Amino acid sequence: MADDLVLEMRDIRKEFPGVVANDKVSFDVRRGEVHALLGENGAGKSTLMNILYGLYRPDGGEIRLNGKPVTFSSAREAIQAGIGMVHQHFMLIPVMTVAENIVLGTEPRKGILLDERVADRRVADMAKTFRFEVDPEALVQDISVGQQQRVEIMKVLYRNADILILDEPTAVLTPQEASDLFEILRTLRREGLSIIFISHKLNEVLEIADRITVLRRGKTIETVPHAGATEASLARAMVGRDVLLRVDKGAPEIGDVLLEVEDLHVLDDRGIEKVRGVSFEVRAGEIVGIAGVDGNGQTELIDALTGLQKIESGSVNIAGHRLSHTSAREALDAGIGHIPEDRQRRGLVLEFTIAENIALHDYAKPPDARWGWLFPARMVGRARRLIEDFDVRGGGPSTRAGALSGGNQQKLVAAREVDRDPKVLIAAQPTRGLDVGAIEYLHRRLVSERDEGRAILLVSLELEEILSLSDRIFVLFEGTFVGEHTGDVSEEQIGLEMLGGKKEAAA
Ligand SMILES: Nc1ncnc2c1ncn2[C@@H]1O[C@H](COP(=O)(O)OP(=O)(O)O)[C@@H](O)[C@H]1O
Ligand SMILES: [Mg+2]
Repeated sequence: MADDLVLEMRDIRKEFPGVVANDKVSFDVRRGEVHALLGENGAGKSTLMNILYGLYRPDGGEIRLNGKPVTFSSAREAIQAGIGMVHQHFMLIPVMTVAENIVLGTEPRKGILLDERVADRRVADMAKTFRFEVDPEALVQDISVGQQQRVEIMKVLYRNADILILDEPTAVLTPQEASDLFEILRTLRREGLSIIFISHKLNEVLEIADRITVLRRGKTIETVPHAGATEASLARAMVGRDVLLRVDKGAPEIGDVLLEVEDLHVLDDRGIEKVRGVSFEVRAGEIVGIAGVDGNGQTELIDALTGLQKIESGSVNIAGHRLSHTSAREALDAGIGHIPEDRQRRGLVLEFTIAENIALHDYAKPPDARWGWLFPARMVGRARRLIEDFDVRGGGPSTRAGALSGGNQQKLVAAREVDRDPKVLIAAQPTRGLDVGAIEYLHRRLVSERDEGRAILLVSLELEEILSLSDRIFVLFEGTFVGEHTGDVSEEQIGLEMLGGKKEAAA
């Protein structure tokens, strides 16, 4: 019903230099509900609430409070209209008491003096009613973070707010404090307050919220009631796949078999068989993805293909050359490029410069070196070209690799591996821990390397990454392939197989 809406925000837009923080965001709140605003870091949650609270001016859109259009040009105006906000960082004065902090700016006065007795009594009453369990006379500097947060909430209530905004309130709390906070929020809800609860944590949103609005990259994705929402459905809405799906990918132009693996068995360091008879091939011009839950043999498979781990039995052929598995150098020379799972341990020498890292595999070979001599000018020239080509930001050829951000370190590894012109490129967790920009870059790059005619083997724990990039997909479970699919298989089906579930019924 429309008449229990206390707040409506329609098509709110807010742009900062270079980023649209809110892109036509719509959001509404009912009386007596906890409405969660869920989204990843940078999704635009705080911006939307800062607009509501009068701290930012929106570039467009409309706010209605109890049906009437409003514009706030300061927090003071928002507070007067009944909106209160508790920020991620508290704004209390440590050397003042709880009661003083709460009444600050709204002091009941007796003549020109603050009427402390009245203030203390009102605060004590409120603390009791809502079971805040804080001593009004304690100094703020002496109470716990959880209690300080309650003081912030009381400050809002003291000003008669009927909409309470909490920006990531549990980020600073212990689990016990968080559950105490939830108790308080339930009490406030019973009293008819409307609460906007910002979070990026699925479990707590499901615990406390009556409705959930998901923001992603500045846009409203959906508003759903608590009933029917699951961690999986919320996660999908939150992370989305449009970031990944935006990889522009034409149909593969498939060529010769460049990687051929037959009945491969590999043991781990403790002698336990981790790859138990795996066979597949990857051809020029295609991306083959290997999906699976961590620990099902991915690491051992990659190590065997790249010569880092002996094989127990079976064979690996690279462009017709059968690996004897005597060294990692053999795999490199046969035409394997490897973007490793652990870029800091295996991909780069962090103390070395960018130029030195790029020359790492080839230090003993022309053109960087001849008869054991390095040609620094060539190394630097090559580094400069690759920095440009792979958009490595944050330094030049003589910058230490360790000084780069994770995303730029990964671009550096990719640059070096691709520059060696490998026939087969193995990308293991290529975007783990990277920001969206670096992910997009690496994804596009993998597709363009595919289109150049390389055979790409992508091993990833990120199902969405596998689904958005792969032309064919294998599912690895306990060391064997339990499924083989074309790229248009459903997420649910792969997810099921990854967990050892059933295969889809033959259609
Ligand atoms: N004052 C600001 N100036 C410039 N950019 C900002 C400002 N506030 C937020 N942003 C940008 O707007 C986007 C949304 O940020 P924010 O609303 O803080 O997200 P969230 O609270 O969901 O983590 C981010 O890209 C952030 O960097
Ligand atoms: Mg925020």
